[in-house]
Amino acid sequence: MLLRTAILTISDRGSKGERQDLSGPALRERLGEAEAFIVVDERIVSDEPDEIKAALTNWCDSGSMALILTTGGTGFSPRDLAPEATMAVVDRPAPGFAEAMRLESLKITPHAMISRAVAGIRGSTLIINFPGSPKAARECLEVVLPALPHALEKLAGDPSDCGS
Ligand code: MTE
Repeated sequence: MLLRTAILTISDRGSKGERQDLSGPALRERLGEAEAFIVVDERIVSDEPDEIKAALTNWCDSGSMALILTTGGTGFSPRDLAPEATMAVVDRPAPGFAEAMRLESLKITPHAMISRAVAGIRGSTLIINFPGSPKAARECLEVVLPALPHALEKLAGDPSDCGS
């Protein structure tokens, strides 16, 4: 069964139509190549935490979304509040995803340490933050992709033993 996925682009300028955000489409394209996923919804919201939280809780509480990828708003600018909004809605943190993204990304650029991305679980949905540039989002998705199908099977209640 395909893993139902939503993509949330977090960008003040993108939400007003002042900039074309390319990181959401970049994530969608790469997920499509991976074949296990189906992107069923995509939205752009401003950096306003309440807007981010509303989009995340809406998707999670529908009970039909396995995965949400957010892109943007993870850095140091005053309006970069994606991690705080995400942590406010998750029941359980899932730090391994962001740890792995930063570890691998540091091999590419020292600027990787500027991303404050987090990941966590709300209900039966995994939420992962990605940085906002298409290049950075793609690089980070590449890191976590191999672990996602197994993570989402477990989250959906698969009781089988882990092989590795
Ligand atoms: N991670 C990877 N893999 N590649 C990158 O080019 N850019 C960094 C970082 N993470 C980068 C990366 C930069 S320059 C910033 S400012 C932060 O992500 C935060 O980005 P955001 O505020 O757009 O989320």
